[in-house]
Amino acid sequence: MVVVILAMAGCRPDPPVEEPPAPLTEHLMQVPEGWDAPVFPEDNAFNDVRWALGRDLFFDPRLAIDGAVSCGTCHLPERAFAAPETVTPGALGAVGERNASTLTNAAYQPHYMSEGGVPTLEMQVLVPLQEPSEMAHNIVTVCEELAADYADRAEAAYGRGLDPFVMTRALATFQRSLLSGNAPWDRWQRGTVTPTEAEVRGAELFGSGGLGCDRCHAPPFFTTYGFANNGLEAVSLDPGRWRLTGEPADSGAFKIPTLRNIGFTGPYMHDGRFATLDEVLDHYATGGAGHAHQDSLLAPFTLDAQDRADLLAFLGALNDTAFVDDERWYP
Ligand code: HEC
Ligand code: HEC
Repeated sequence: MVVVILAMAGCRPDPPVEEPPAPLTEHLMQVPEGWDAPVFPEDNAFNDVRWALGRDLFFDPRLAIDGAVSCGTCHLPERAFAAPETVTPGALGAVGERNASTLTNAAYQPHYMSEGGVPTLEMQVLVPLQEPSEMAHNIVTVCEELAADYADRAEAAYGRGLDPFVMTRALATFQRSLLSGNAPWDRWQRGTVTPTEAEVRGAELFGSGGLGCDRCHAPPFFTTYGFANNGLEAVSLDPGRWRLTGEPADSGAFKIPTLRNIGFTGPYMHDGRFATLDEVLDHYATGGAGHAHQDSLLAPFTLDAQDRADLLAFLGALNDTAFVDDERWYP
């Protein structure tokens, strides 16, 4: 670790930095029972000082060019780190095209953004900071502006001042701790609660013996982390993954989102087009709008009132209330 930090610090004249304080993982980094701890990059091992710096940067509106938009403006803890608006305006009121994703269990994702074009949480930080409809800032300039205020804490966390290295690492550290694995569904899996009859029937409908939602939204994260065109429209307005790969077959394909905390993260889909889960079910029941590259797993179905209530009860069991209420997220 020391070697890595020194190498990255390059030509700074300072004497060797000290090893960061030992992690207190039981409090700030809580890994749900039975889960593997997320993998931290070699140059960004977890510790509480880094985490606390990352949390405070996450909620600091000065990261935006107008000083008025933080990461937390669009990723609200009480919404499982998504946002209630269809599209949340960024700095200077600029409006983008996409609905803010939940950051629930972001640590385990192999790629970020709807196209999947960003491989790590560290790199992802550059996107919102520089994106005109989000923070519209420049990472070098913003670090210079805030360097004096964060000098001591950046030094304690990474052995250097606030610079793009520290900004990206600290924000990623905080986001890697956003682990949610204590929904009612998890408690049935651990055998500590008994599901209701509606929840059991809903799980059957959701699964491969029913509608096969789990072929894309596979437990335990309720995503395969793959990409699919789920038939939202016959001709895609947003090219989705095509924009990244240039493959026509990827037109209208988006990263399959987790359904954990789905009750908190509406509105739904990449553009927030559906306000409710009922509307989402209505969409899937049509079998999709018939896009040329729509996934072949989609097929029309009908749900009676009981089926619908059961499916919604099952989806409700994926809401981890302790996660959204967790005091660690509320500085
Ligand atoms: C103005 C609103 C806005 C702000 C501010 C914002 N984001 Fe986002 N964020 C979004 C939207 C919209 C998406 C979805 C983009 C997409 O689907 O491609 C997103 C996606 C993400 C993702 C990818 C999640 C995934 O599942 O792929 C991460 C990680 C993330 N944001 C972190 C941050 C961080 C860290 C900050 C602050 C430095 C931040 N965001 C600031 C709106 C915002
Ligand atoms: C072929 C793969 C596939 C299947 C099968 C599938 N989904 Fe999806 N689902 C997706 C994709 C891809 C998205 C995201 C689309 C977007 O961002 O516009 C999505 C989005 C969702 C969302 C919104 C998530 C959010 O955060 O916005 C819900 C809820 C959902 N699906 C539920 C279901 C249910 C219930 C079923 C079964 C009836 C189902 N899905 C079947 C691929 C699939």
